[in-house]
Amino acid sequence: MKIVVAENIGFCFGVRRAVDAARNAACEKGAVYTLGELIHNDFVLEELRSEGIFALQEPERAPDGSTVIIRSHGVGPEVYKSCARLNVVDATCPFVEKIHEIVKEHAENGYQIAIAGRPDHPEVIGINGWCGGKAVFLQSAEDASALPAYDKLCLVAQTTFPYELFDEIVNALPTMSERKVFYTICPTTLERQAEAARLSKICTAMIVVGDRNSANTRKLCEVCRKWCKHTQSVSNHNELSLEKIQTNDIIGVVAGASTPDRIIREVITRMSELEKTMAEETEVEIKKVETEATDAVAQPVEAEPAAETTEQAEPVKEPEAPAEHTDNAEASFAEAFEKTLVRIRNGQILKGSVVQIVDGEVCVNIGYKSDGFIPRNEYSSDPDVNPADTLKVGDEIEVEVIKVNDGEGNVLLSRKNVESKRVWDNLLQDDDIQDKVFTGVGKEVVKGGLIASIDGVRAFVPASQLSTKYVENIGDYVGKELKLKVIEVDKSRKRIVASHKAVLALEAEEARKEKWGKLEVGARVAGTVRRITDFGAFVDIGGIDGLVHVTDVAWGRVKHPSDVLSIGQEIEVIIRDVDVEKQRVSLGYKQLQPKPWTMADEKYPVGSVVEGKVVRIVPFGAFVALEPTIDGLIHISQVGVKRIVKVEDEINVGDIVRCKVLEVNPEAKRISLSRRDVILDEHPEILEELVRE
Ligand code: F3S
Repeated sequence: MKIVVAENIGFCFGVRRAVDAARNAACEKGAVYTLGELIHNDFVLEELRSEGIFALQEPERAPDGSTVIIRSHGVGPEVYKSCARLNVVDATCPFVEKIHEIVKEHAENGYQIAIAGRPDHPEVIGINGWCGGKAVFLQSAEDASALPAYDKLCLVAQTTFPYELFDEIVNALPTMSERKVFYTICPTTLERQAEAARLSKICTAMIVVGDRNSANTRKLCEVCRKWCKHTQSVSNHNELSLEKIQTNDIIGVVAGASTPDRIIREVITRMSELEKTMAEETEVEIKKVETEATDAVAQPVEAEPAAETTEQAEPVKEPEAPAEHTDNAEASFAEAFEKTLVRIRNGQILKGSVVQIVDGEVCVNIGYKSDGFIPRNEYSSDPDVNPADTLKVGDEIEVEVIKVNDGEGNVLLSRKNVESKRVWDNLLQDDDIQDKVFTGVGKEVVKGGLIASIDGVRAFVPASQLSTKYVENIGDYVGKELKLKVIEVDKSRKRIVASHKAVLALEAEEARKEKWGKLEVGARVAGTVRRITDFGAFVDIGGIDGLVHVTDVAWGRVKHPSDVLSIGQEIEVIIRDVDVEKQRVSLGYKQLQPKPWTMADEKYPVGSVVEGKVVRIVPFGAFVALEPTIDGLIHISQVGVKRIVKVEDEINVGDIVRCKVLEVNPEAKRISLSRRDVILDEHPEILEELVRE
């Protein structure tokens, strides 16, 4: 079994345009009305109703101020007038609009208008409105030959009118003094009918997918049945009569312009499943949907004598008016078609609107003859991003065409590629790229380093640039988020080299600056003594080492800072000065210690006995150091128990002496001591001896 799918399937341009217009309006307004059914397909109509799109037969029934959509069939001018109180979205197909223009202009110029088409077809009713409802309708060569000999006749065709029949009608027209024929059959219709004829001639069975109410679908059935007696008309996959299909059948699939891609795909899938079960050696051939629409327009329809008929039919009295010549009329249609139809190629970036999101797969209308699909893995470089969380139906997105035809007639798209291209382009254009920090994710270990992804763009991170420390296992970075700085860009090779280490260094520098910025002169901070030198002690105050100069270690004179401080000691210091440029901090320790003399009367109360070293001898006494900054004075009369001439007769510098405190005056920084009293207290026999003397 072999399945051959027609190139031109899915919604035609005009139907797609109308459906999109209705969907967008419904998204915005909540509920909208279409004048007549938007499309001849019950499944789609049901879907549209669920989206708030309802069909009305007369505009009078629409509530005031509501939105009505004029479908692709178009309407006459009287309908526009009766819609004055409504918000009108005109989705008339441009091909139909063109017919309106032709008819209006010729009716105004005195031509009798003839329309090849069914008088009750909405499109024909609309066209007739543009000539004041005075058109005559032709459905056969007999109708044409029965026409009276008008002075001036203008003939147009319903867009879906059979091409062959139109030729017959043209040939049967009676001779008239002035006759203009416009081949206004839509190129899409022509293509589909021609393709249906071509396929039905080579296939043993034909499947026509589409609603049976659609004139378009009915016409395709007609064409197919003419050449292939095993033609099935189905509106969806459930209606397929698979029992009629033989193992050696070549099955052609065509579809009407109102048939959505989804339904066609379901039919093809259903047949493909059957095919798998039927024979081992089967072949599924899906025809490529890459032929340009203009090629199809330019080609004659299956060797039908279209051009000849045209020339015979058109006596063309006014060659200067190209639109009036049949060929030129067709050309103007092709032009209009080309203007609106998107041609696509692999790698092309397009804008499209979201039609559906199902199971992470996004269906996008790209204005092409069939919708495109973004598979889940092509949506974002971040696999955790679910399209349903970031998109809604009607949103416009940019996509790249990965495959014009994936083998099943679908256009494969990627949003991920667009994102990464944009990132790459931005990177290339950014002159400050090397000053910026990007967030990347480790992807894979390669020789000499790691490949990281920066928003989908691959960047190489050499092993030496992964950390400020030696990295034992590069694989630890796979799957991890990394802040990266770009350190090299090779634009021609689209190659980026990045560094995580540079970011770490930058962060450390920023943290250091922040710390320095927080240092306030006069603030008290805790610190740990790290190092002691002759000129002071270095104290760590939270990552910054400050110096307590030896003169700031204590209030009194100290020979060496270690006399007061020891390594590892936790102390509180005051910030005395900060030099950010030179990165120096001066600290003070003594400043947070009480000044010695302020405590002197508490430490050395009158009557207490103290011990100290004689540090200086003067004629009137000796100074005794009680602590580095407090000296007491032993007056010469208090040095010994007996009267002495010189202090040195009793004590010398360096002697350790015990004395009683006689008086303390902190303000005057004076302490009077008595060595004599201690001796007499400790040796009462000496006092007794003195008394006896
Ligand atoms: Fe327009 Fe042709 Fe479709 S006339 S509505 S594009 S079949």
